[in-house]
Amino acid sequence: MELREFYKRFSLDESLAVGTGHNPYYLRIDSGLDEKIQVNGHEMIDLASNNYLGLATDSRVKQAAIEAVQKYGVSLCGTPIATGYLDLYQRLEEKLASFVGLEEAIILPSCYQANNGLFSSIAGPQDLIIVDRYAHSSLIQGIKAAGSKIRPFLHNNLEHLEGILQRSRGYRQVFVVTESVFSTEGSLAPFKEIVQLCETYRALPIIDDSHGIGVLGKSGRGILEEQRIEGYQGIYTASLGKALANSGGMISGKKGLIDYLKYYCPHLVYSTALTPSVLAGTEAVLSIIQSEFGVIKQRLVTYQQAIYESLIEGGFTLAASEAPINSIQSGSKESTFILAKKLYEQGILCTAFIEPSVPVGDGRVRLIAGANLRQETVAEVAEIIKRIGRS
Ligand SMILES: Cc1ncc(COP(=O)(O)O)c(C=O)c1O
Repeated sequence: MELREFYKRFSLDESLAVGTGHNPYYLRIDSGLDEKIQVNGHEMIDLASNNYLGLATDSRVKQAAIEAVQKYGVSLCGTPIATGYLDLYQRLEEKLASFVGLEEAIILPSCYQANNGLFSSIAGPQDLIIVDRYAHSSLIQGIKAAGSKIRPFLHNNLEHLEGILQRSRGYRQVFVVTESVFSTEGSLAPFKEIVQLCETYRALPIIDDSHGIGVLGKSGRGILEEQRIEGYQGIYTASLGKALANSGGMISGKKGLIDYLKYYCPHLVYSTALTPSVLAGTEAVLSIIQSEFGVIKQRLVTYQQAIYESLIEGGFTLAASEAPINSIQSGSKESTFILAKKLYEQGILCTAFIEPSVPVGDGRVRLIAGANLRQETVAEVAEIIKRIGRS
């Protein structure tokens, strides 16, 4: 094939952005996630990031990161198995495992990488993986790469899941995979019941708690605490880049499995370790959560409620959410972009989800009001939302 022909295959269709006059993606941010952020030179309010607890610019977290840079520099220029396994790394693994109440943990450069690496290390063509049909791309891509048989179950539907489990015989291992909070909606998995079904049918549960860690549970320890799941025997993954306000991904569970992954998970073994500043920053966030979670969570809940009420008053249709997320059902990709544009023009940054992140024609405009915002700012957002709804 001519090279010109090859490259022609990848030209981007910009008609949606051109037609609606707005492209909500790759907006240039010129500041940190402060009360007001700078976007393309304009001051805006951030309801787009996953900075749930508002700790991404917390002075104590920044100070911890700065001190780590001063002591260790900016990179260990190696994988954890070689030169990257800092004392900070080991300490954070121990703290994360104990935070979520499991035996051990490993940390990878991202949760996308953790989810990808996990499945290709533990599953193969002899196995069956049953997965919620709304599961995140990182889980789906990881599962596909493992070459296992895949069966999706209807979103959060226990009856459908059980039906599949009943018919799943003859596999080496059956896994059931889901997320805690489905972030395009805010819906919460009935994970306790899923774990019980797994026990009945001898399947292994795997939960991605990326949007639950630091948010759910009475002390922010995530889905296992939220749903009082004791003695969890399955596997747990989470991102450190959302409520934990840094970056990286963790896999946690039984000691034997985690020790195995330390040597046999290529996505960990062959990838440069997280930077010292991120390791120290995450540790600082964990200690803030341990001392201040109650107060921070209260703000998060109050803000979500205020935004929810303004959206209802503005006549918007919302997805049923059980998390600090408000998600507007915005329909087609055109109407999703247009709604995102209206909010953008009024100084509110939101997240626009269109296919393939959501089913075709079932767009979402998501708003997350982080706990770092002031009450006055949230009130300002609520007024804007009502105005847009009425216009
Ligand atoms: C449910 C879920 N899992 C995994 C990821 C990936 O996490 P990370 O950003 O750490 O790669 C995300 C991020 O969007 C997510 O929402």
